[in-house]
Amino acid sequence: MIVQFLQHLLILIFAIQSHCATSPFSILHSTPSLSLSVLDFNATASGLCYDTHHIQSTIDACATAALPNTTCHVIFPPGKYLTATIHLRSRVVLNITKGAVILGGTKLEDYPEQQERWYVVLAEDVEDVGVIGGGQINGQGLEFVTRFDEVKNVMVSWNSTGRCLGDECRPRLVGFVGCKNVLVSGVKLNRPAYWCLHLVRCQNTSIQDVSIYGDFNTPNNDGIDIEDSNNTLITRCIIDTGDDAICPKSSTGPVINITATDTWIRSKSSAIKLGSASFFTFKGFVFNNLTIFESHRGLGFQIRDGGNVSDITFSNINISTRYYDPSWWGRAEPIYVTTCPRDNSSKAGSISNIKFINITSTSENGVFLSGSGGGFLTNLKFINVNLTFKRWTNYTDGLLDYRPGCQELVNHDSAGFMMEHIDGLHLENVNVKWSGHEVESWNNPLDFRPATVNNIILQDFHSNTYTS
Ligand SMILES: *[C@@H]1O[C@H](CO)[C@@H](O)[C@H](O)[C@H]1NC(C)=O
Ligand SMILES: *[C@@H]1O[C@H](CO)[C@@H](O)[C@H](O)[C@H]1NC(C)=O
Ligand SMILES: *[C@@H]1O[C@H](CO)[C@@H](O)[C@H](O)[C@H]1NC(C)=O
Ligand SMILES: *[C@@H]1O[C@H](CO)[C@@H](O)[C@H](O)[C@H]1NC(C)=O
Ligand SMILES: *[C@@H]1O[C@H](CO)[C@@H](O)[C@H](O)[C@H]1NC(C)=O
Ligand SMILES: *[C@@H]1O[C@H](CO)[C@@H](O)[C@H](O)[C@H]1NC(C)=O
Ligand SMILES: *[C@@H]1O[C@H](CO)[C@@H](O)[C@H](O)[C@H]1NC(C)=O
Ligand SMILES: *[C@@H]1O[C@H](CO)[C@@H](O)[C@H](O)[C@H]1NC(C)=O
Ligand SMILES: *[C@@H]1O[C@H](CO)[C@@H](O)[C@H](O)[C@H]1NC(C)=O
Ligand SMILES: *[C@@H]1O[C@H](CO)[C@@H](O)[C@H](O)[C@H]1NC(C)=O
Ligand SMILES: *[C@@H]1O[C@H](CO)[C@@H](O)[C@H](O)[C@H]1NC(C)=O
Ligand SMILES: *[C@@H]1O[C@H](CO)[C@@H](O)[C@H](O)[C@H]1NC(C)=O
Repeated sequence: MIVQFLQHLLILIFAIQSHCATSPFSILHSTPSLSLSVLDFNATASGLCYDTHHIQSTIDACATAALPNTTCHVIFPPGKYLTATIHLRSRVVLNITKGAVILGGTKLEDYPEQQERWYVVLAEDVEDVGVIGGGQINGQGLEFVTRFDEVKNVMVSWNSTGRCLGDECRPRLVGFVGCKNVLVSGVKLNRPAYWCLHLVRCQNTSIQDVSIYGDFNTPNNDGIDIEDSNNTLITRCIIDTGDDAICPKSSTGPVINITATDTWIRSKSSAIKLGSASFFTFKGFVFNNLTIFESHRGLGFQIRDGGNVSDITFSNINISTRYYDPSWWGRAEPIYVTTCPRDNSSKAGSISNIKFINITSTSENGVFLSGSGGGFLTNLKFINVNLTFKRWTNYTDGLLDYRPGCQELVNHDSAGFMMEHIDGLHLENVNVKWSGHEVESWNNPLDFRPATVNNIILQDFHSNTYTS
C-alpha cells in the first residue's frame, strides 16, 4: 500500500512539474497582450526631473490590465529617464528601446529603506518578468567615486543610517529576488555603482545578448551574481567590468544548473568565480565557448564555507590572464580551483567531478589547484589544454593566493601547475610552454607535494620552453 501510495505521489509530482514546464517561458517570448508607453503616463524623458512616479504608474497599470497568461510591455521610447527604485510586477516586461536610458538616482533617498533592496530596477517575488530592448540601464557609478585611482577607486559609503558598515554601502543596478521565469535580453547594463545584475533565489532565468560595462577601477562592480538560484542561462553576452564577471554564490540555498555560452569577458578580478560565499551546493554548471581577455583570473573556485561543488564543465575557452594590483583578488591564474575553510569557524567544502576540455591560455601565472587537506578536491580532468606562460607586466610574481581567508598570500615560486591535496587528477593531451628567459625562476612545469596528491594520470603531457 505504502509503495503504491508513493508511486502515485511521484506520478502526481511529476505531472505537476511537467505541467509547469512549458507554459512560463512561452508567455515571456510570446507577443504581449498590451503595450503601454511611459510617455503616455507623462514621463518627461529629460534625464533631469525624476520620472519614478510616471514609470511606476505605467508598470502598475500594465500589471493590472494584462490579460491572463500574457505579458504587458512597458515601452521606454528614446530619451533619458532619471529614476529612484522602480518595482517590476508579475507579467510585466520593460522594453527599453534603442536610444532610451534609464538613469539610476544617486541619492540615498532614491532607494528603499532596507539596504538589501537597493537596486535601480527591482523585481521581488514576481513571475514572468523581463527587461528587453536595445537601450540601457545606467547606474551612474562614477558619481559614487570619491577619489579616482587607477589601482582602485575609493567609493562613497551610504553608511550614515548605521544599518550598513564599510565601503560596500552602495546600490546595485538590477535585482531579481525570489522570481520565477525571468528574461533579460538585448539591453546594456552600464556603470553600476556596486554589483550589476543580481539573481537571488530565482528559478529559470535567461540572460541573452546583454552587455555589461562596469568601470574597470571600481571595486565590487560584479557583472552577474547568481545567488541561491536554479536554472540560469547566460548566452551571447559581453561583460567588461572591474570585479568578478559571472559569480555564482550560495548563501541561503544551493545553486543548481547554470549554462553560460558564447560570451566575452574582461575582469580585473575573476572572469568566472564560484564563491566566495559558498555555504550550500553548487552543481551542474556548463561553461562553453567563452573568451576571457586580460583578466586577473580566468576560471576560479573560491570555496570557503562548507558548500560542496560538483559536475562542472568548462569547454572551448580561450583565456588570457595578467597581473593587476594585488589589492584585487587574483594572481593571473588561468585556472584556479581552491577549497579551504575561510576561518576557524568555517568548514571546508568538497569540489569534485570538474572537467576542463579544449582550453587555450596565455597567462602570467600557472594553474593553481589546492584542496587544503582532507580529501576535498577529487576527480579533476584536463583534456586538450594548451597553456602558454610569459610575463608582460611589471608586477612581482611568486605568490600563492588563498584569499579570502585561509593562508592569504604565501611566497612560492611560480609553476605550470601548482597542486596540493588532490585525489584524482587526469591530464590528457596537455601542452605547457613557457618563455625561457622571461620566467627564469619557474623551475617546474608540475609542482606538487606527492604525499598530498594521489592518483595522477599524465597522458600526452608536453612541456617546452620557447623564446619570443
Ligand atoms: C523552470 O523550467 C524547468 C524546465 O523548463 C521546468 O521544469 C520548471 O517547472 C520551471 N520552473 C518554474 C517555476 O516555472
Ligand atoms: C498627463 O498629463 C495630462 C496634462 O496635465 C493630464 O491630463 C493627464 O491626466 C496625465 N496623465 C496621466 C496618466 O497622469
Ligand atoms: C493560464 O494558464 C494556466 C496554466 O497553463 C491554465 O491552467 C489556466 O487555465 C490559464 N488561464 C486562462 C484564463 O487561460
Ligand atoms: C520594443 O518596442 C519597440 C517600440 O514599440 C518595438 O519596435 C520593439 O520591437 C520592441 N522590442 C521587443 C524586443 O519587443
Ligand atoms: C562609513 O564609511 C566610511 C568610509 O568607509 C568610514 O570611514 C566610516 O567609519 C563609516 N562609518 C560607519 C558608521 O560605518
Ligand atoms: C533549487 O533546487 C533545489 C533542489 O531541488 C531546491 O532545494 C531549491 O529550493 C531550489 N531553489 C530555488 C530558488 O527554487
Ligand atoms: C537541473 O537540470 C537537470 C537536467 O536538465 C534537471 O533534471 C534538474 O531538474 C534541474 N534541477 C533543478 C533544481 O532545476
Ligand atoms: C562562440 O561565441 C562567439 C561570441 O563570443 C560567437 O561569435 C561564435 O559564433 C561562437 N562559436 C560557436 C562555435 O558557437
Ligand atoms: C558537503 O558534503 C559533506 C560530505 O558529504 C556533508 O557532510 C556536508 O553536509 C555537505 N555540505 C553541505 C553544505 O551540504
Ligand atoms: C593545442 O595546440 C596543438 C598544437 O599546436 C593544436 O593542434 C591543438 O588544436 C591545440 N588545442 C587547443 C585546445 O587549442
Ligand atoms: C573539443 O574540440 C574537438 C576538436 O575541435 C571537438 O571535436 C570536440 O567536440 C570538443 N569537445 C568539446 C567538449 O567541446
Ligand atoms: C615596466 O617598467 C619599465 C621600466 O620602469 C617601463 O619602461 C615599462 O613601461 C613598464 N611596463 C609596463 C607594462 O608597465
